[in-house]
Amino acid sequence: MKLGIVILAAGQGTRMKSRLPKVLHPLAGKPLLAHVIETARSLEPDAMVVVYGHGGERVREALDGPGLQWVEQAEQLGTGHAVQQALPALKDLDRVLVLYGDVPLMRRESLQSLVAAAPSGFGLMTMNLDDPTGYGRILRNEQGQVQGIVEQKDASPEQLRICEVNTGIMLVDAASLARWLEQLTPQNAQGEYYLTDIVALAVAEGVEIRIAQPEDPVEAEGVNDRLQLAALERIYQRWQAEVLMRDGVTLKDPARFDLRGSLRTGMDVSLDVNVIIEGEVVLGDNVSVGANTVLRNVRVADNVLIRENCVIEDAVIGPDSAIGPFSRIRPGTELTGGAHVGNFVEIKNSTIGLGSKVNHLTYIGDTLMGAGVNIGAGTITCNYDGAYKHRTTIEDKAFIGSNTALVAPVTVGEDATIGAGSVIAKDAPAGELTLARGKQVTIKGWKRPKKGA
Ligand code: UD1
Ligand code: CA
Repeated sequence: MKLGIVILAAGQGTRMKSRLPKVLHPLAGKPLLAHVIETARSLEPDAMVVVYGHGGERVREALDGPGLQWVEQAEQLGTGHAVQQALPALKDLDRVLVLYGDVPLMRRESLQSLVAAAPSGFGLMTMNLDDPTGYGRILRNEQGQVQGIVEQKDASPEQLRICEVNTGIMLVDAASLARWLEQLTPQNAQGEYYLTDIVALAVAEGVEIRIAQPEDPVEAEGVNDRLQLAALERIYQRWQAEVLMRDGVTLKDPARFDLRGSLRTGMDVSLDVNVIIEGEVVLGDNVSVGANTVLRNVRVADNVLIRENCVIEDAVIGPDSAIGPFSRIRPGTELTGGAHVGNFVEIKNSTIGLGSKVNHLTYIGDTLMGAGVNIGAGTITCNYDGAYKHRTTIEDKAFIGSNTALVAPVTVGEDATIGAGSVIAKDAPAGELTLARGKQVTIKGWKRPKKGA
């Protein structure tokens, strides 16, 4: 059986009040439509078609990928019209599954239960809501068989009391779908070609409508405005947090944790409140992350303590390191292991050797630092001459006195000592003390000016 999936994403999304097309608004750091495409792809269909409209080129550029076909619906004449635009791209298929680009939480398992409920014929995903306002209502006869769908705006007061609603997701025989779509007319309150009208057409042909329901009704919730987007974001974050906690991760407060990407964890990982994980992050065993820390594309080895308020991006943190509070570790940085990086320290595109310490108020950029180095407070690598970046090398066991400026390109030799307050613009030899600063003098008898004197 060959399955095609149509994702409807042509709606304008006016209520988002945004220049960004609605389906590109992110949920957990990823566009709404990307969630739907990912779920669709997980069903391994034989064809996938996205129907786009408003801002379509941008949507396509952002999300194009293998196996995706894009069809434009220039005018939004309704969901039935939208599916019709996709038909030419759905040749030689047996069945068609319709999904919505702004319904990001629909799970693969629920879609599989729809396929299981309707292995052939017509499958419709419905749900029962306490408040069905706004949705199409499912009409059943006395025997409980589905007869059709009536939209909110076309429903009688009696029909409006029906609490079983259409999620919009349906699975239809491809040849019949084409036939029914041709029969649609826009004779309804909204003057649109309703996809939902094919249900009654199927029933008229004697086709039985088989029903499946999502495990959780929120799966079928759509995003129309930023309030709904925020609500779904929280639900999605809760789901992710639950998976992590079941996996053995301690979250000090699952409601104050955000994962916008993927996180792999070892044993006994603990994340304090307001930790934000973005991109691809891997945390080893016994990693503890303090409150308000952001980790973006970071690999952290075992036994690492990252304290509060750190921002770490595109970096590799070796085992037994301690970082923060208030450290900023920027792209291209690797802490080999056992390093200490303290408060108000910025490190960029540098390697910090085993057990080296950069504890206070320092900028290290474009630097190769050996093992056992100690960097005094206030040390700056002056890596930029206004046009080019230059590298600094600090060899093993070097000791850099506080408030030193290392003017790159420059090398500090192994076991060298640099006196505090130095401006080092030439290489400092191994094993020696190098100083580069004004000599201290005392002016005998000098008097400070005094007012009125
Ligand atoms: C639709 C269903 C309703 C269901 C509800 C579930 C119809 C007629 N009604 O109503 O029964 O309860 O979804 O949320 O199908 N779209 C296009 N092109 C169009 C119109 C819509 O691509 O011309 C897309 C939208 O981008 C959206 C989806 O189809 O992703 C649903 O459209 P929307 O206008 O939100 O339909 P509803 O009125 O909510
Ligand atoms: Ca809708």
